[in-house]
Amino acid sequence: MNFDELIDRRGTDCSKWDKMEALYGVSSTDGIPMWVADMDFRAGEFLQDAVRGLLDKANYGYFTGDAKMKEAVAWWMKSRHGWDADPSTMMSTYGLGNAIGLCLQAYSDPDDEVIIFTPVYHEFTAKVKKSGRALKESPLVIRDGVYQMDLDTLEAQLSGREKIVLFCSPHNPAGRIWTRDELKALADFCLRHNLILISDEIHHDLVFPGQEHMPLPVAAPDILPRLIMLTSASKTFNTAGSRLGTVTIPDDKLRAPLAGLIRALDMSPHLLGTVLTEAAYSAAGAKWVDALTKYLDKNHKVFLRSVNAIPGLSAMPMQSTYLAWVDFTNTGMEMTEVLERVKGTARIAPSIGSDFGTGGESYLRFNIATPRARVEEAVERLQAAFADLQ
Ligand SMILES: Cc1ncc(COP(=O)(O)O)c(C=O)c1O
Repeated sequence: MNFDELIDRRGTDCSKWDKMEALYGVSSTDGIPMWVADMDFRAGEFLQDAVRGLLDKANYGYFTGDAKMKEAVAWWMKSRHGWDADPSTMMSTYGLGNAIGLCLQAYSDPDDEVIIFTPVYHEFTAKVKKSGRALKESPLVIRDGVYQMDLDTLEAQLSGREKIVLFCSPHNPAGRIWTRDELKALADFCLRHNLILISDEIHHDLVFPGQEHMPLPVAAPDILPRLIMLTSASKTFNTAGSRLGTVTIPDDKLRAPLAGLIRALDMSPHLLGTVLTEAAYSAAGAKWVDALTKYLDKNHKVFLRSVNAIPGLSAMPMQSTYLAWVDFTNTGMEMTEVLERVKGTARIAPSIGSDFGTGGESYLRFNIATPRARVEEAVERLQAAFADLQ
């Protein structure tokens, strides 16, 4: 577990590095990719062993399925999150983006409204739009420097056509961990208005030491009849390439439409994703994550301290994730100029805040899941790019 190791991922068919120039105009020769939520660390030994195990089999025919993996998922949810998740209520999908798309098909009709709390993971908007559903943005408000939901305003704006709340917990960007009271208030809101609550908890393991994430079924058990839980090992262990997510729907009646759709589409679990997930949700995986979150905590402190020292830049406090959220409002610059400096001068490719919906316009998101030396290099470049504001 050497998170300081600088691995050259260029030319390895790695989206984060090898697509950077095409997408951001920042060359990987000297650029730093800080966009997509992908980590630059070597995969844990337990994952490499699992892949070696597959290799040694030298046969990749039909396999028995994901039953053992679901047991591992249940063990992880119980031991890491205090949540009793029943394997018989779980379904495997090709990642959580896929799970969101499937849920939109199974639980809403064209033009039904889907509520999201913006700014939020940009694919929420994309998935709702691509599915032909209507988007209802509920902008988060900043109180005490962090995001909070404004359910009163949302309640006053309901049209009656809302079907689903698509929720991110912890929140991406900036890693806010919602409190039990906030989760209960959201659950009550959904119950009051007959809404299905999809809780995307993909970032739930990446909490900094001393912080505690609470799964929705633990915080608000009353919501179980209307709750869809999305989890995956893919952010925690950086296994997104293996395309496996888990949808857990405790209520039998609510589960039936998605189970039916998955059967109709003949979706069966993916071999590599199943093997990697099972290997990840283990004692060795737990040890690795404990070390990772300590490392990310230090990275986030280095990044936030240095960025906040640049006049005009303001990074939101984080409790989890590696997705730092920086506001450029006080530079007084247009975002085109900010981006010219970040991409052109600093040669850094961040995610663009406006893609995260209302409230994200003056922000950029920086992925700090990379060796510390590279985080330090990035902040030095940002300091230089905005040196005239010092
Ligand atoms: C909140 C959230 N949900 C889903 C995903 C995508 O998951 P997957 O790669 O399993 O489709 C991401 C990726 O960053 C994410 O941040």
